[in-house]
Amino acid sequence: MALADHHRRPLRSLRLSLTDRCNLRCAYCMPEEKYHWLPRADILQFEELSRLVDAFTALGVDRLRLTGGEPLLRQDLPELVAALAAKPAIRDLALTTNGLRLAPVASALRRAGLDRITLSLDTLDPARFQRLTRRDDLARALEGLAAAQEAGFTGTKLNMVVIRGFNDDELLPMLVLGRRYGAQVRFIEYMDVGGASGWSMAQVVPKQEILERLTEAFGAPPEPQAGRGSAPATEYRLADGSACGIIASTTEPFCGDCDRSRVTADGMWFLCLYAVAGHDLRGLIRRGADDAELRRHLSQVWSSRADRGAQERAALHLEQRTAQPGQAASFHHEMHVRGG
Ligand code: GTP
Ligand code: 5AD
Ligand code: SF4
Repeated sequence: MALADHHRRPLRSLRLSLTDRCNLRCAYCMPEEKYHWLPRADILQFEELSRLVDAFTALGVDRLRLTGGEPLLRQDLPELVAALAAKPAIRDLALTTNGLRLAPVASALRRAGLDRITLSLDTLDPARFQRLTRRDDLARALEGLAAAQEAGFTGTKLNMVVIRGFNDDELLPMLVLGRRYGAQVRFIEYMDVGGASGWSMAQVVPKQEILERLTEAFGAPPEPQAGRGSAPATEYRLADGSACGIIASTTEPFCGDCDRSRVTADGMWFLCLYAVAGHDLRGLIRRGADDAELRRHLSQVWSSRADRGAQERAALHLEQRTAQPGQAASFHHEMHVRGG
């Protein structure tokens, strides 16, 4: 019988964080002045990553997303991509990046077999970009987006975390940009996760409100497309024929369909995005566990999974909902460590 957890969720999608480091400092992700980075010796090497992926694919994983921090900070990334793309079990190999370092390597990544790129971009205003990310680098992010198209990538997505009072007047400009570069925009509800220590419900623009704004702008309501499946985004068709996605993780959590988990760059396996504790796979590998033992461990952990983090948070009273307490103190809880 196929592997399933307590809620009958299969294990299909794996997010592999390749580094905890980032060349931006987005206020909702890395607000602190100083960070203690994972020790270099703890970071999984390419062979270890490849072995882990084999164990996961043996249990049903067929979608792989490389994340960070910023995964393009990892040296020789095309080499890793080529090794992963060569695995027949992987049907979809994607990368989530801020795009700053994408232009020089986009073609090499495509040649190596990367299927898709998702670019995180929250504003098109250079001053706002600098305020949000503490770096004056909007132009390079845009070059990255253009490079993805030039390199021949299709299925590119543009992730925009919508924050009230900061960028919620940029829904339409982002759609225009997406259309120009053949990328589908996904509007993401701001989540109380990781380093989002300044989070408040007042800053969340709920999916319903995003839909209302799009209806007003296009003169007709966006039409939901059937079949979200286990993906976080619901896809909509807009009156001009283009498409966009909305990820309503805060107001309409999708834990019931969750088939994903994440491994940090130092080999800690977290199931739920909101999980407090992870499972140390690096220790297991480096102690010499053989493939069968590794698979048995993954299988045991997944079968006992019962969490529904975002739903549990949605059930909390509003006044109890701030970013999870003590997260900045606990390194592995940070979004830039667990990779979204
Ligand atoms: P696709 O493969 O294109 O479906 O990518 P994706 O949407 O799964 O991944 P992406 O990295 O683009 O993440 C989009 C948004 O969904 C981000 O804000 C993530 O933090 C959020 N997200 C990703 N995984 C989870 C999850 O397991 N639970 C919740 N609640 N949100 C998630
Ligand atoms: N709420 C919503 N999305 C977030 N991301 C990072 N932190 C948050 C948050 N607090 C997004 C990034 C990236 C994706 C992996 O997660 O913008 O696109
Ligand atoms: Fe921003 Fe992503 Fe870097 Fe976090 S990891 S600071 S969201 S670019």
